[in-house]
Amino acid sequence: MHLSAQHGGSHLEIRDLAADDIRPDESSPWDDWDDDWLPDDEQPQQHRAAVVLDGAIIGTMSWHAVPYGPTRGSRAWSTGIALTPTARGHGLGTLAQRMLSDYLLQSAHRVEASTDVDNHAEQHSLERAGFTREGVLRGAQYRTDGLHHDLVMYARTRDTLAG
Ligand SMILES: CC(C)(COP(=O)(O)OP(=O)(O)OC[C@H]1O[C@@H](n2cnc3c(N)ncnc32)[C@H](O)[C@@H]1OP(=O)(O)O)[C@@H](O)C(=O)NCCC(=O)NCCS
Repeated sequence: MHLSAQHGGSHLEIRDLAADDIRPDESSPWDDWDDDWLPDDEQPQQHRAAVVLDGAIIGTMSWHAVPYGPTRGSRAWSTGIALTPTARGHGLGTLAQRMLSDYLLQSAHRVEASTDVDNHAEQHSLERAGFTREGVLRGAQYRTDGLHHDLVMYARTRDTLAG
């Protein structure tokens, strides 16, 4: 896949992540996992993309299928994003989440994203990207502080596509 858009005078692209891509440090307090990772065969199959600004990778996005029933029509995509700190706060994550959800809504009726109840930057970004807040997933995410954190679920459905 390859998506592109102008952002001010810059060129933003989202394209498949390549094995030899060098990713910037995009860590944040929201991905502070403990060491007890599930084995690969219990992980969802993730699609991964690079977010590229004027030729430089500034972050990554990922998405995986969430089956709400056994048929293609009940398959949603769940997306995630992380930008390197210097790329945050310029609207790039908002644009990227709008672009990727536009693309994924071609192959599913629903695209969802969840984030920590305290991650207001991502919540505002998702709202600006056209997602709707749906509710709180209580205790859904365990992190290295030993606590199960509440997440907020957001989603876009196909009827929100322009045109
Ligand atoms: C969440 C994220 C993808 C949003 O993308 P973005 O390009 O920063 O989004 P925006 O520029 O539209 O800004 C979103 C908010 O972050 C605020 N912000 C400004 N500078 C910031 C910075 N340096 N770091 C984080 N947020 C910042 C913006 O002011 C804005 O707040 P507002 O909605 O109250 O105005 C990006 O900040 C990021 O990668 N954060 C770290 C990883 C993360 O939290 N991923 C989501 C986990 S579920």
